[in-house]
Amino acid sequence: MRILQLGVGSVGEVTARTVAGEPEVSSVVLADIDEQRTTEIAAKLPAGKVQTLTLDVTDRKALLRALKGVDFVINGLTPDVNMDLMDACLETGTHYMDMAAAGPRNVVGTADLDEEFALDAKFKQKDLSALVCFGIDPGASDVFARTLYDQLDTVERLTVFDGDNATADGYKFAAAFSPTTMIEECLMLPPIAFENGRRILRKPLSHSKEFEFPAPIGKLKVWNVDHEESQLMPMFLAGKGLRDADFFIALDDDWVNLLLTWRNLGFDHNQEIELGDARFRPLDLLVSRLPKSIDLIGKLHGYTCVGTLAEGSLDGKPVRRFMYQMTSHDEAFAKHAVQGTGWQTGVPAACAAIMFAKGLIPERGILAPECIDPQPFLELMTRHEMPWHVIDLPPCD
Ligand SMILES: NC(=O)c1ccc[n+]([C@@H]2O[C@H](COP(=O)([O-])OP(=O)(O)OC[C@H]3O[C@@H](n4cnc5c(N)ncnc54)[C@H](O)[C@@H]3O)[C@@H](O)[C@H]2O)c1
Repeated sequence: MRILQLGVGSVGEVTARTVAGEPEVSSVVLADIDEQRTTEIAAKLPAGKVQTLTLDVTDRKALLRALKGVDFVINGLTPDVNMDLMDACLETGTHYMDMAAAGPRNVVGTADLDEEFALDAKFKQKDLSALVCFGIDPGASDVFARTLYDQLDTVERLTVFDGDNATADGYKFAAAFSPTTMIEECLMLPPIAFENGRRILRKPLSHSKEFEFPAPIGKLKVWNVDHEESQLMPMFLAGKGLRDADFFIALDDDWVNLLLTWRNLGFDHNQEIELGDARFRPLDLLVSRLPKSIDLIGKLHGYTCVGTLAEGSLDGKPVRRFMYQMTSHDEAFAKHAVQGTGWQTGVPAACAAIMFAKGLIPERGILAPECIDPQPFLELMTRHEMPWHVIDLPPCD
């Protein structure tokens, strides 16, 4: 299978390196707007299997040329480009995968998951698959939810928790993945939640609580933010009595105060503002003061944990079962010269691509992580140094 890796940032590097080692993958084309980055990453892939391409993905003609002869494209860019890429894949007959969704249009001006799922019939007509939201969260978190769902008799609540206790050398504020995506999902997008069996919208940064992550992280304050799982889990895992589905991420107080101040200044939107002769988006101003994901390589110290808590019952007894993956930023750097979040996101994406290459995802149309067979995915995670764990928590919150 010939793969085009679009975007070789923090996540794309890991995905490309992981898929390239598989016998079913004949070649990997690394494409990025940043030529130097593609050259650097190419040197880390098996010789003879890799090509590089300098590409601005917004140049449609160049994108269509890049897709020629490619079987499968991995989108490691920000999700505002998803629809254009999916449309290009439909035109060139290429299977597609991404790691996140954007939107909704009325808030950030880009397509959301609902618009992506609306392409299901078109992908099926062309005998193509589009694997959407295959990172760590969304991605492995949804596979964890599906695994726990299969184990339990009833599942009333599914909650994804994302906690990171890392410090960043030299930075007061840092997001371990694309800061644009991070700020949009925390500050601008009203979190979609599934509450009492209904899809509702909450106000950004309106719900928080404490959650005890497994050691060595421990207790962190977590905030409900907009995330794909709150939509995906009720779409596919509602059949055993699901009433609530949510996503919470740990944010430290300084970061929350910064975001709330930004909101109080009226900057919680992605429109341009005028200042003198200049026009710019306040979002871009804030992002310009933050490190990029790749700037943090070797500078993060601590652990990142993503897990899904299923609350339901088994054999008539209440169960609270937590399935999670824990990555050490320091170990990811020492072993692979990447930062932990890039590693934790890129490997599950690669596992899905490898499953596809092995013919283990024969379905066509738009496929969420809940739709694939969890077993080979989990086995591949373990094989690629992404161990996961399952623990039963005490009965009550
Ligand atoms: N599901 C998850 O668990 C999860 C976690 C982290 C990140 N993500 C997704 O992965 C995406 C990438 O994250 P990252 O940390 O690797 O970001 P990054 O900024 O490190 O990488 C993005 C890459 O895209 C390239 N690029 C930007 N504009 C381009 C263009 N027009 N044409 C071609 N290349 C272009 C950049 O040069 C960069 O190398 C995020 O935006 C997010 O959507 C998902």
